[in-house]
Amino acid sequence: IPTQIAVLQFAPEKGEVQSNLDRVGEMLDGLNADLVVLPELFASGYFFNSTEQAHNLSESATDGPTVSRMCEWAAATGATIVGGLPERDGDLFYNSAVVVTPRGWLGTYRKTHLFYEETLHFTPGDTGFQVWTVTDRNNRSYRLGAMVCFDWFFPESARALALKGADVIAHPSNLVLAHCPRSMPIRALENHVFTATANRTGRESNGRETLEFIGQSLICSPSAETLASASGQEEGVFTVRIDPRQARQRQINPYNDLHVDRRPELYAS
Ligand code: ACM
Repeated sequence: IPTQIAVLQFAPEKGEVQSNLDRVGEMLDGLNADLVVLPELFASGYFFNSTEQAHNLSESATDGPTVSRMCEWAAATGATIVGGLPERDGDLFYNSAVVVTPRGWLGTYRKTHLFYEETLHFTPGDTGFQVWTVTDRNNRSYRLGAMVCFDWFFPESARALALKGADVIAHPSNLVLAHCPRSMPIRALENHVFTATANRTGRESNGRETLEFIGQSLICSPSAETLASASGQEEGVFTVRIDPRQARQRQINPYNDLHVDRRPELYAS
């Protein structure tokens, strides 16, 4: 029985948290999937006019309004859900991805590699790359890792997750550069994992400049196949069936194992 994994692509409206949550809730209504990945900062929007605006939209990653709604969706559908939010923790603010299951909050990853003006509003993440054991609706477990958008540009992100045993990498994104959709099949191949990149569409202005988001959400296999892909503009939930155990077959012939053959002592840091 396969595990169904999905990415959701849509265009949030900056600052309209409640209506963005309502829209995602409608898109997830009747969902048939074991894992759903939502975009980065999916309810708050992305290109903040000011640090004050970014901080006013930030919330608790364990019991704020966004994660509470994610927990409701997970309980209603039986899916594990990964999505991005601006996290407030005391006086510090992070660009975070939260993992929730039908039983509630499971973990938070704080984005390691901040992009562009994110560096003005957020503190670089301190969690490191984490992998959680989750179960699908047939109660089979697999290992789930998370990274956020620009983390893809640093191959160490996906590598660290793979070395920690990830079978599937959830990748909430707000991509503005063209290269990521071409690169993710290779991130999946070189690490022998599945990747699920959920990107947003639309455009946003910070009052001085406009960013255009490229859509093209995609799910990739350990053999570099693109199993699902969205266009640059469309909104929707894109689902594929996988066997996460395929990610564990890292022995590609009798002589080569993609993890065992690494020579870290020869790699510059
Ligand atoms: C990005 O990291 N949102 C490009």
